[in-house]
Amino acid sequence: MKAIYPGSFDPITYGHIDIVKRASKIFDSVTIVLMNNPRKNPLFSIDERFKMIKESTKEFKNVNVKVHTGLLVQYVKTSSVKIVIRGLRALEDFEYEFEMALTNRQMCPELEMVYLMTDLKYLFVSSSMVKEIAQFGGELNKWAPPIVEKELRKKFQR
Ligand code: PNS
Repeated sequence: MKAIYPGSFDPITYGHIDIVKRASKIFDSVTIVLMNNPRKNPLFSIDERFKMIKESTKEFKNVNVKVHTGLLVQYVKTSSVKIVIRGLRALEDFEYEFEMALTNRQMCPELEMVYLMTDLKYLFVSSSMVKEIAQFGGELNKWAPPIVEKELRKKFQR
């Protein structure tokens, strides 16, 4: 069985990679679908985010990366893959995920969501937190892969 893992990955963190790793063990193949979140203003371009995702997931042989602009349901409708993975962290994720899942399902009833729980050590890791730490020159090696750390240092000149 195949699944997709959509997100804005601005940038990819060890929290995301933990979900990719779990998904890659459950499914025969996982496609990370890089998209824009209209509620967020991205720091990195799609190309920059794509490069960081590729580099930091290269160890997973059944994982590939694609870019999609538009609605998630448009991607699902044109693909044979109908299973969508999302990671869950603390409770605050739930309301947003619930709203998104039920809205998406109304637009595309064949879509099925699967939620994976992140490792305890990444419970509070988010792209926003990683960007904030980088902005003030903090240590990132616990939260994000080396390529992300390098690109963040370039962005913030720290
Ligand atoms: O990593 P994120 O930012 O939580 O990912 C959110 C994402 C990109 C999956 C979501 O914003 C999305 O699906 N964007 C595409 C537009 C869309 O389909 N919106 C409908 C949501 S109800």
